[in-house]
Amino acid sequence: MSTMSRAIEVQNLQKSFAVKVKGKTRSVEAVRGVSLSVARGEIFGFLGPNGAGKTTCQRMLTTLLPIGGGTALVAGFDVRTQAREVRRHIGYVSQLGGADLPATGRENLMLAGRLYGLSRTDVKKKIEELSRLLELDELLDRIVRAYSGGQKRRLEIAMGIIHEPDILFMDEPSSGLDPQNRAGLWAHIRRLREKGVTIFLTTHYLDEADELADRLAIMDAGKIVAQGTPLELKQLVSEAEIAARLKKEAVTKATLDDVFLKITGRTLRNTGKEVM
Ligand SMILES: Nc1ncnc2c1ncn2[C@@H]1O[C@H](COP(=O)(O)OP(=O)(O)OP(=O)(O)O)[C@@H](O)[C@H]1O
Ligand SMILES: [Mg+2]
Repeated sequence: MSTMSRAIEVQNLQKSFAVKVKGKTRSVEAVRGVSLSVARGEIFGFLGPNGAGKTTCQRMLTTLLPIGGGTALVAGFDVRTQAREVRRHIGYVSQLGGADLPATGRENLMLAGRLYGLSRTDVKKKIEELSRLLELDELLDRIVRAYSGGQKRRLEIAMGIIHEPDILFMDEPSSGLDPQNRAGLWAHIRRLREKGVTIFLTTHYLDEADELADRLAIMDAGKIVAQGTPLELKQLVSEAEIAARLKKEAVTKATLDDVFLKITGRTLRNTGKEVM
């Protein structure tokens, strides 16, 4: 880890799935040649509409899915041949979540911490810290099945970061969180970056990407269509386009949604997840 210059280095990553449609097998090209590079300690945002291929990329980078083509180094290790080393350096908060429903929050956190190799004492300390941060105090000794969606999400975030990984993958961690818990999550993500954690964050919230990401990539239909800092991407939207819109809507600054609209011809604004 200490000698590697980039946290994540991906070249021409590909994945296709065989799916059966009306009895015929056809191939869905979910990821069609993605290249990206994430510096250590960076928050890298990953944006794009439903079905763009974001989760598929993350599952390959976290070694949960074999890569279909190309190369990917995570923490300096090859996801194809050094999966075990990769796993030692990462945490993953998946889109579907992985909490064990008949167990309590505390039991889930203990199991996650122990799986990652922490001592019981260290896990207990981390549970205290994380429950304050993600407002889990009242929930810890209840069975997860009885949690609300947002409560379960907060527990799963705590499970993904309990071992303080070098590189943290999060797939839409804030979807389903209320504004207060979302703000708590943002604060924690920033704190992790201050500690040097690299964060690869998928989100549908443009304000979240704008606010948190040092750099970001916009994905559409299996490909990266733009990559850069939020400011660089906003500069892609020309002054003329903004001026034209200014007349119409009296909006003063380019947003990431403008960037997305310019590149894909569709808008993410106000549509939440239902962009397709
Ligand atoms: N296991 C699978 N089998 C078949 N097709 C799949 C599989 N996993 C993903 N796909 C397809 O690959 C494409 C990309 O899916 P993916 O889940 O990566 O999108 P996403 O960008 O994460 O979308 P969302 O914003 O909805 O989470 C979609 O067309 C999806 O149907
Ligand atoms: Mg997804």
